Amino acid sequence: MKRSKRIEALDKRPVNLDGYIHEWPEMGFVAMKSPYDPKPSVKVSNGVITELDGKTRDEFDFIDQFIADYAIDIERAEKSMATPSLDIARMIVDINVSRKEIVDLISGITPAKMAEVMNHLNVVELMMGMQKIRARKMPGNQAHITNLKDDPVQLAADAAEGALRGFAEEETTMGVARYAPLSAMALLIGSQIGRPGVLTQCSAEEATELELGIRGLTTYAETLSVYGTEKVFVDGDDTPYSKAFLNSAYASRGLKVRFTSGAGSEVLMGYSEKKSMLYLECRCLYVTKGAGSQGIQNGSVSCIGIPGSVPGGIREVMSENLVAALLGLEVASSNDQSFSNSDMRRTARTMLQFLPGTDFIFSGYAAEPNYDNMFAGSNFDAEDFDDYNVLQRDMQVDGGLRPVTEEEVIRVRNKAAKAVQAVFKYLGLTSVSDEQVEAVTYAHGSKDTLSRDVTADLMSAEDVLKRNITGVDVVKALAESGYEDVASSVLNMLKQRVVGDYMQTSAILDRNFNVLSGVNTPNDYMGPGTGYRVEGERWEEIKNIPHIIDPKDI
Ligand code: 5AD
Ligand code: CA
Repeated sequence: MKRSKRIEALDKRPVNLDGYIHEWPEMGFVAMKSPYDPKPSVKVSNGVITELDGKTRDEFDFIDQFIADYAIDIERAEKSMATPSLDIARMIVDINVSRKEIVDLISGITPAKMAEVMNHLNVVELMMGMQKIRARKMPGNQAHITNLKDDPVQLAADAAEGALRGFAEEETTMGVARYAPLSAMALLIGSQIGRPGVLTQCSAEEATELELGIRGLTTYAETLSVYGTEKVFVDGDDTPYSKAFLNSAYASRGLKVRFTSGAGSEVLMGYSEKKSMLYLECRCLYVTKGAGSQGIQNGSVSCIGIPGSVPGGIREVMSENLVAALLGLEVASSNDQSFSNSDMRRTARTMLQFLPGTDFIFSGYAAEPNYDNMFAGSNFDAEDFDDYNVLQRDMQVDGGLRPVTEEEVIRVRNKAAKAVQAVFKYLGLTSVSDEQVEAVTYAHGSKDTLSRDVTADLMSAEDVLKRNITGVDVVKALAESGYEDVASSVLNMLKQRVVGDYMQTSAILDRNFNVLSGVNTPNDYMGPGTGYRVEGERWEEIKNIPHIIDPKDI
């Protein structure tokens, strides 16, 4: 066939490198509504839910049972279920109906009803909903801090720069899992140098991650995964009950925790039970709420290629973020895995959370070049920082980041690298050379750094565990190496664990370690003139990008 040059040009566009599939409900490739989704229903007798979404109690799987027993307000159930889904959808976008009124009403509806409500909302309405229902008044952002070499010195520098740039939470993970103790320590130190009060996490195998948390080397945990079908849960050797138990283990030591879920995981694992991604995700979110978690990282997350491939998939992703908020959960709204070859498409996808604001717009913005991202690449990376800052400025929207100067970046990176060098030395861990500190200070990514002695590093990492080194040892090492200010920040992070206020829904800390949460700084949006507005000092900060003409200089 003679080819059209127009079509040939279009075929070569990045968007056509992405994967797309027609709806295929039998295999779970359906975003918002499957012909196999159950009809909403509830029956209560003697204070027990005896029917849920078309199943009687004896037909429940363990997810149904967990939801019926722990995630639905039984007193409200029958009344809430009697409110038409369209009415609930309209209340969500009605500026005259408060967040509280909606959250109370919603607490009595079932997962199938929740999916039905979302099906009445288009993407702009979903964003209007998020603007009002998000728990914390001001939005926030979370970074991925990782590198290909698992280099703790680079981690510290990137954590410092990320914190300086505005991220309220920073998480790391490793290529080589055994690096975890050194990674957690480097992240903890670096983050506090960029901006005191930033929370840190080290995503690792569950027992290790819990141990690092208990020792005070991390300050939150996030990857407690839940799934929407029983089969997938069981494949992961888990149940809603085991996740609830793990959640309590963290909580008992004063650590902030959120769960993780999102569309597409059940499809990828081959057990979607022909249900829509949205309905299955609603089940995950009810399990999360029932387990007592304050929040969720969701929006497909690492499975974004699946909803991204079907019609309405990105609308579904925003729907699941809103469902989480409606259940009163903190929402770290994904945008964290690369899913498209098209810059237009990846930006458009992020606007759904960026414009209304969520508790964490990204649940992992790559604060390093994507080649160093060990979470399989993020939707935005360190090379997009200036684009992101300009987007905030163009639209007068708070995306959680701020422009910085080259001098500040170099200063905090250098201080972080040196502090890690000093702490490792004080604790008798693997050595960090001056050349390494220098390279990391000026590096963009691990291609610009020196290689470390991996064997020595891993022995040191093991040593941290064997010698029972804790956050308090890090404080002492910092204080006795001339980093009293950093020592004081790390100590303050440990104190939060005793106070426990940062376990409240959507809590972050400001630079003076004040908690900002859905409880003490609640979202009070009720239309124009209310809620969070970008103004005053924050607007001045956002306006002040580099590469700008200053009229004073002309
Ligand atoms: N469902 C459940 N857990 C997920 N994670 C990422 N995406 C999902 C999802 N859709 C969790 C996994 C992974 C970590 C980065 O987050 O535990 O290891
Ligand atoms: Ca994350």
